[in-house]
Amino acid sequence: MIEIIDVLRQEHRDIDKLLRVLERELSVFDRGERPDYEVILAVIDYFKNYPDICHHPKEDIIVERFQARDPVAAAAIGDLQAEHREGAKRLGRVAHAVERVLSDEDLIRQSVHDIIRDFIDHERKHMETEERVAFPAVVKALQPEDWADIALHLADRYGSPSEPDFEEKFSTLRRNILELEEAAEIERSD
Ligand SMILES: [Fe+2]
Repeated sequence: MIEIIDVLRQEHRDIDKLLRVLERELSVFDRGERPDYEVILAVIDYFKNYPDICHHPKEDIIVERFQARDPVAAAAIGDLQAEHREGAKRLGRVAHAVERVLSDEDLIRQSVHDIIRDFIDHERKHMETEERVAFPAVVKALQPEDWADIALHLADRYGSPSEPDFEEKFSTLRRNILELEEAAEIERSD
């Protein structure tokens, strides 16, 4: 398999870990209990930054290459960039709903639930479509020289080895959130 596609799939797994954290906190909210808002806010913050800084730029590069190589096939996979923008809008709705809950505004629980559920479900569906439809189409169309070019482009995004690696920063952030969530779960089970 092409290395960058493997990386993207792994990033989807990592994104899903955080969606599961959000889902667990949502189930606490749905039971009428107080979820861990520190965790929820950390997940929202993560999603505000991680996809656009780390994940989507990689997809954008391969999609641009795909469009140049086979515009008709590329058009058939739909507009991934538009879907990414929609995802950001859904996340904005989540952030807004959580802010309002935290400022004690009267909100119908069902609508808070629906907004968060909508974000989780669409993110999952979007990643599933990328893996099932987009990535295989890209792999079929691109030539070895395209992948070499993509690898060069991606390498360009990183600074000198002495600079802190932004990918590493997000891994640390993700680990911290997963640990916070684990601690919240243990506290709830006590
Ligand atoms: Fe993706």
